[in-house]
Formats: sequence, structure tokens, C-alpha cells
Amino acid sequence: MADYVIKDIALAAYGRKELDIAETEMPGLMACRTEFGASKPLAGARIVGSLHMTIQTAVLIETLVALGADVRWASCNIFSTQDHAAAAIAEAGVPVFAVKGQSLEEHWDYLDRSFQFPEGANMILDDGGDATLYVLLGARAEAGEDIIPVPQSEEEAVIKAQIKKRMEQSPGWFTKTRDAIKGVSEETTTGVHRLYDLHKKGQLPFPAINVNDSVTKSKFDNKYGCKESLVDGIRRATDVMMAGKVAVVCGYGDVGKGSAASLRGAGARVKVTEVDPICALQAAMDGFEVVRLEDVISDVDIVITTTGNKDIVRIEHMREMKDMAILGNIGHFDNEIQVAALKNHKWTNIKDQVDMIEMPSGARIILLSEGRLLNLGNATGHPSFVMSASFTNQVLAQIELWTKGEDYQPGVYILPKALDEKVARLHLDRIGVKLTELRPDQAEYIGVTVEGPYKPEHYRY
Ligand code: NAI
Repeated sequence: MADYVIKDIALAAYGRKELDIAETEMPGLMACRTEFGASKPLAGARIVGSLHMTIQTAVLIETLVALGADVRWASCNIFSTQDHAAAAIAEAGVPVFAVKGQSLEEHWDYLDRSFQFPEGANMILDDGGDATLYVLLGARAEAGEDIIPVPQSEEEAVIKAQIKKRMEQSPGWFTKTRDAIKGVSEETTTGVHRLYDLHKKGQLPFPAINVNDSVTKSKFDNKYGCKESLVDGIRRATDVMMAGKVAVVCGYGDVGKGSAASLRGAGARVKVTEVDPICALQAAMDGFEVVRLEDVISDVDIVITTTGNKDIVRIEHMREMKDMAILGNIGHFDNEIQVAALKNHKWTNIKDQVDMIEMPSGARIILLSEGRLLNLGNATGHPSFVMSASFTNQVLAQIELWTKGEDYQPGVYILPKALDEKVARLHLDRIGVKLTELRPDQAEYIGVTVEGPYKPEHYRY
């Protein structure tokens, strides 16, 4: 029986053509293949991937395989899979379990399947922390603990049911798997928060590399990635005229900065909300009006959440929204917008991942991807070039954990700055950047070496 669950294997040829194009835009990953393809530093690694199953991720997967790893993959979001990418990967022989529009039950079942290597998994590559959460929660359940409430409460029952099923099928499986995991590399801000929290509580049993906080990840993917993919998602969902519309972006962190720039670039008039005075000041000095959501909600056409926090757009906000205003989230989880509070309103499905909801007042809201990250739900996520920088960090993190994991105590680590600079360097040629070389006397004057690193650890870019 085929060891995959995808939409349609007939999409593989289309996926492969897009994969071939993506490779030309992912110089960091291709350089990893050239540098490490012969030595195969990931030989023996059995990596569970839980990360949006897109074309760019397919290039990551094939890079991990080229470096010697065995890989099984699930998507970390029910709407983010590109079915042709999943098909191409399945056809290449990598077990993949991902369908765009899968149910929550399928989502957790597919994650479970991605762990089922015949000899057991020994590495995790995570995005948002679901794979790590699954194995740690399951091990705690096996130890007889009442498992901790999970952050996305709607999913809690589904996760618990999946854990129970696995415990019945294979007693002791979670504990054995947890003990075999050598390390996890985590892609995103929200997953990284979870890891630091687990470590603080003494519940992280293996080392983790925080890929998100490589400069070449969060200051590029989160920012320039969203700058391209936010408006892409809104347009593919709605075809609305963006110029002249009033938009509010909740949160002005890395994703908020990219999102506000995206909307401004499309001609919208953009307002920002923030809780952090530093980010609020940045927004103001970047020329955005910084407001409170309740003061502007009745006048805005587009509302976007980017905070990684919960309950940002609440039912009292939605009741005030203009007729046909667009509401969406680009943060990792769907709890930024209180979608559950809309459940007993009238929903009209316009097309996949676009719903129109009628409020008691008669005003209608266009809700994107049911409040799940809209750039991946309504469009195809970030472009390849910026994902190459993110995923090159992922590959380096996997190599570090697999080959030197014993040197690390359980905890959360960031890749050294020299590797961060290396990732950036690998992406210069493709866009014709000519780097100036430091002269030795200049290097000495500013206290660095000619080869770098060029900045102290505390430098913030
Ligand atoms: P960040 O921490 O840099 O920014 C979040 C900002 O939201 C902070 O400045 C914070 O002060 C602000 N905030 C928190 N609560 C708020 C509230 N109640 N009202 C207004 N502002 C509030 O995090 P980052 O890197 O920008 O990530 C944000 C989210 O996006 C995370 O969930 C992350 O995992 C996700 N993400 C999504 C991507 C995508 O492609 N959709 C790409 C990268 C990250």
C-alpha cells in the first residue's frame, strides 16, 4: 500500500515542474546539496517534518534526503498544503501526509503517521510546535499525568483523542519515541515561544534549535515574506481593490512590519495597533497611525492580525465592522480572531477558504481561511527566495543537532552568527549583490576579523 496520503498523485508532474523552478530561486538549499551531498551528514537521521507542505518545503525535503536523511512529512496547517507539491514528493518516494482542506482529525492523524518510521523517528523539524507537543503530551499521558491543556482549545479534544488512539494501538510508543528524539529545529515565533515555555517548566527533554531567531529567518521570512504574501492572499481570496481602502494591522513585530508594508505597497491606508511601546514607536515613525482597534474598527475595510497572541479581534469588534469588511489572520494559530463566536451566525461559503458571515445587524464580514494563516490558506505562502534563507537555517540546524546533539544539554539554542552570515552570503549572487570586502586594518579598527562575524551578539539589525 502507498505510504502517503495526498489529494492526487496525478498532480506530481505539475508539482515537479514548479519544484524545478523553485530550485533556481533557492540558492541556499542548493548550496547545501553541493557542500554536503557527498558526505551525507544526515545519514541515519529519521526526520519527522511538520511544516506547511508547499513547493518550497518540497525543495527542503529533497535537500534533507540528498544529505542522507530519511524523512516523513505532514503539514502543520489544515489549509496550507499545495497538493501538487505533496504529489511530487510522494512520487519521489517520500512518505507525505497532507491534503489542502484536511479536517482537524485528519491533521492529527497525519502527524501521527509522519512519526511511523519502521525503526522509529529520531529527529523533529517543526513549525509551530505541533510535532513536539504531540510526542511530549503523549509521553506525559503514558506517565499517567492529566495532560496539559493545549493552546488551541478547539483542537484539544481532537489531540487528546488522537493520543488515546495511539496509546491503545502501541502502548509505550510515546515514551519510546520521546527518548529516541535527539533534537528539534523550530521554524516559527509561536513554536519558539512554546519551546522556551517547556524549557522553563523543565519539560523539554532534548535540545532545540530556534531557527526563527536566526537573523536570516525572522528578519527576512517574517518581514519580506509577508510583505509579498499578505496582499497576495487577500487578492486571490477577494479580488478587492486595495488602493484607497483603510486597513488595520494588529501587531507591529516582524510579521506586522511586513504586513503593513504589503498593504501600503498596494495603496491601502494603513493603521497599526500595538501593546509594545517600542514597536508602536517604530510604526509611528514608519509613518503609520497607531490606534486602538475599538476606536477604528467601524471604519476599516481590512483587518489583519499578526500578533501570535489570542483574542485580538473579538466578537464585540466584529459586531462593529463595516458591511463587507475583510477579516484575516497571518499569525501562526487561528486563535487571534474569535471565529468560534461566529459559529451560530449565517455563513455563506464563497469558495474554498473564503466565507461571508452575516452579523445580527445585517452587516457581512468576509472571513479568510476561517481565521487560519491566510497567506498560506488563500495564496501559496512566501516566495521561494526568502524561504531558501529560512530553510537553509533549518538544514544547518538539523545537521548540528544530528551530528553534535550530545554536546547540547536540553534547552533552546540559536545557530552561531557565523552560520547566519553564511546563509545570507549564499543568497547574494542570485540577486547580483556585490559585497565590499573589509581591509585588514579596517577590520582591526572595528574589532572584527575580515571573514566575520561582523556584528556582536547584541546587535539587532
Ligand atoms: P513578534 O513577536 O515579532 O510580533 C508580534 C507583535 O504583536 C509584537 O510586537 C507584540 O507586541 C504584538 N502584540 C502582542 N499582543 C498584541 C495585542 N493584543 N495587540 C496588538 N499587538 C500585540 O512575532 P512575529 O515574528 O511577527 O510573528 C507573529 C506571528 O506570525 C507568530 O504567530 C508567528 O509564528 C507567525 N508567523 C507567520 C508567518 C506566515 O507566513 N504566516 C511567517 C512568520 C511568522
